[in-house]
Amino acid sequence: MEPEIRGLLNELEAFGREHDQREPDHSKKMLNLEPDTAHLISVLVRSSQRRHLLEIGTSNGYSTIWLAWAARATGGRVTSIDRDASKHGMADANLRRAGLRDRVDLVLGDATEVIARLPGQFDLVFFDADRISAPVQFQLLESRLLPGALVLADNALSHPDQIKDYLTTIQARPDFDHVVVPIGKGLSVAYKA
Ligand SMILES: C[S@@+](CC[C@H](N)C(=O)[O-])C[C@H]1O[C@@H](n2cnc3c(N)ncnc32)[C@H](O)[C@@H]1O
Repeated sequence: MEPEIRGLLNELEAFGREHDQREPDHSKKMLNLEPDTAHLISVLVRSSQRRHLLEIGTSNGYSTIWLAWAARATGGRVTSIDRDASKHGMADANLRRAGLRDRVDLVLGDATEVIARLPGQFDLVFFDADRISAPVQFQLLESRLLPGALVLADNALSHPDQIKDYLTTIQARPDFDHVVVPIGKGLSVAYKA
């Protein structure tokens, strides 16, 4: 990775930690992905040449930068959705600073509503917003998953109660090979075999 982008990611990691510590309102926290989890997802994108990436939960663009950097290597694009206008604006600015803004379509709105009208097909979907809506969002996306798609979800170990319906949904599917990777807050990895 270029030192400029690595430097920006380091800065965002420090900002997110400090900001979230002093911000009492949960909805205003950045809640950025753990660096190792973001790194692993970028390896998954690059190693299997994924080009049609969808992220649900942009925040200020930390994980989006990792995805966009990987997408640049594969010739792909990222669509990322968040309902918070202030974070959406921060993500826009951070992606510009990374020189990766042209790789990303940032969509402002409720993810379930956006997904219902979103065009296109995806070979990687990353759930990192509200875990309660993930099962419905998965259903809405199903017909638009390309063969061999990866469907990822963070917080598989940190928020067992909130993510349980999603994990039950995915585990019940014989056409998906599913494993929870104990990295960061727990990454659910489902492969549409
Ligand atoms: C855990 S943070 C995402 C962190 C981000 N992936 C990163 O690593 O920087 C979750 C984000 O999802 C957004 N969010 C939560 N529920 C949502 C929904 N139903 N629709 C759209 N965005 C939602 C929040 O505004 C928040 O920014």
